[in-house]
Amino acid sequence: MHHQNLLNDKSMGKTLIAYYSRRGENYVNGSIKNLKLGNTEVVALKIKALLPDADVFQIDTTYEYSKDYMTCIEEAKQELHDQARPEVKNPLGSIDEYDTIILGYPNWWGTMPMVCYTFLESYDFTGKRIIPFCTNEGSGMGSSVRFIKKLCPGATVEDGTPIHGAEAANADSEAREIAAQLHNRFIPSR
Ligand SMILES: Cc1cc2nc3c(=O)[nH]c(=O)nc-3n(C[C@H](O)[C@H](O)[C@H](O)COP(=O)(O)O)c2cc1C
Repeated sequence: MHHQNLLNDKSMGKTLIAYYSRRGENYVNGSIKNLKLGNTEVVALKIKALLPDADVFQIDTTYEYSKDYMTCIEEAKQELHDQARPEVKNPLGSIDEYDTIILGYPNWWGTMPMVCYTFLESYDFTGKRIIPFCTNEGSGMGSSVRFIKKLCPGATVEDGTPIHGAEAANADSEAREIAAQLHNRFIPSR
């Protein structure tokens, strides 16, 4: 009953909610507002409320981007152009205990912030499941899922849930959909 064991082992694994989110000035429905919590963080906390056993890790950089929105846009553009790999602040030593990673990030220039690339390159995601979600101002998931698949070739990467950043505070049904994906887990066909 090797197959059975495999499924049992998998269902014992824990879930990690890992997210990057930028506090401060943000572009919300056509105007610049100052946000106490970033949009992605608002959604991540909704998911955590639905999955109390999940651990949460905030992916952060060791330096701060400009509080000024337009300057930050330029900083991020340069990092993408340079294919930068910003250091992750207080990184997790290991992700071995997690079998599912719910990965949240804002859409930056059509993909993830570069620090999410650093995060994904820091561990071996083989055999793990990644459930992405991405807050954005209209570009949806962009190319992010394609890059996650490239960075984590051994992982099962779901299609991802795009969320309009300005609607983050109302994204309860999206949070429920994301949390519910834990229960219709990938079952190996062998
Ligand atoms: C540097 C930067 C680049 C962005 N690029 C895009 C983009 O290409 N497409 C898009 O729809 N929104 C873009 N946005 C808007 C954010 O994706 C959106 O406001 C998101 O909800 C912010 O999440 P956060 O508050 O968790 O950081 C960008 C925002 C920033 C700061």
